[in-house]
Amino acid sequence: MNYKSLQKLLFLLPTETSHHLSLQSVALMQQMNLSALVAKDRVQDSVELMGIQFPNRVGLAAGLDKDARCIEGMSALGFGFLEVGTVTPKPQSGNSKPRLFRLVSSRAIINRMGFNNEGVDAMVKRIRRSNFKGVLGINIGKNATTALEDALADYEYCLRKIYKSASYIVVNISSPNTKGLRSLQHGDELSALLEGLKETHATLIHKHQKTVPLLVKIAPDMDDDEVFQVSRKLLEFELDGVVVSNTTISRSGVIGQKYANESGGLSGTPLKDQSNRVLALVSSEVKDKITIIGVGGILDKEDALTKIKLGADLVQIYTGFIFKGPDLIFEAASAIQAHYATA
Ligand SMILES: Cc1cc2nc3c(=O)[nH]c(=O)nc-3n(C[C@H](O)[C@H](O)[C@H](O)COP(=O)(O)O)c2cc1C
Repeated sequence: MNYKSLQKLLFLLPTETSHHLSLQSVALMQQMNLSALVAKDRVQDSVELMGIQFPNRVGLAAGLDKDARCIEGMSALGFGFLEVGTVTPKPQSGNSKPRLFRLVSSRAIINRMGFNNEGVDAMVKRIRRSNFKGVLGINIGKNATTALEDALADYEYCLRKIYKSASYIVVNISSPNTKGLRSLQHGDELSALLEGLKETHATLIHKHQKTVPLLVKIAPDMDDDEVFQVSRKLLEFELDGVVVSNTTISRSGVIGQKYANESGGLSGTPLKDQSNRVLALVSSEVKDKITIIGVGGILDKEDALTKIKLGADLVQIYTGFIFKGPDLIFEAASAIQAHYATA
């Protein structure tokens, strides 16, 4: 069965049910060593960034495989790298359902999942048991019950736990679904967080004799000045990279549509321009100094190429993967490969 037919069936189910069913199928295939059945050719377009060899520049964005349940199966679909999480210190169930909505005609999703995950210990156990040998980013967050003033302790806890299992680590301070989280992107709160994280990072580098790059994921809902401020802070505190961007709280582009009034983060095509605006601004400050991962609204190869042209070194997909299936990975990675071949 091709992805279009499968998607028609899956889209008949309640959104979160089809979401789980898809992930379960990939996980089951992986458990039964059947990933080869759905395996796709991985575009070979190797690039070294942050000291990591990426097989190609197209990755899976955070939030789909929150607990690292199907990293081998996902990798078999041709991704150059995977980002799992967001994971928090303690397990948490997230917001009440329904919390995931598909805006099909706009090729968009609104979600307010709220970091539902099994906690960092369960994730680490699973990664250690797996045979995954590829590039694995781990995205970390804070528990909903942790006061914002104590956020650093949650991030540090996760950082220590995952350090040995991660190829790179992303500090998520941009989810709109954890109260107050985005305030960590600004001013003194950002400085204190980055300073604390870099200290812990330095002790972990020393302890494990291994440098795992540290990145920050930012929101698209910032004005120009805020984007410049955060970009400069990332350079000042010598972060290794930035992920641009998370979902948006804006509803421009979907006003009047079914589900448009649901609270949460909007992803997919209506996010694209806003995410690209922030990407261009970030790039003008940090390009070639730290690594930029572009994510938000990639539904076809042109979207992926646009991010590269705006300065992204790597790209990630989430909503496009739901709407277009695994073919999008090959399509985007081949287009990027061709772009660099002729550049
Ligand atoms: C259902 C859903 C859950 C998500 N969960 C997370 C998450 O846990 N952590 C995170 O950093 N981003 C999360 N994201 C954001 C994506 O990683 C990505 O940044 C965003 O969706 C934009 O990319 P896209 O337009 O390709 O979907 C989530 C997105 C969706 C749609």
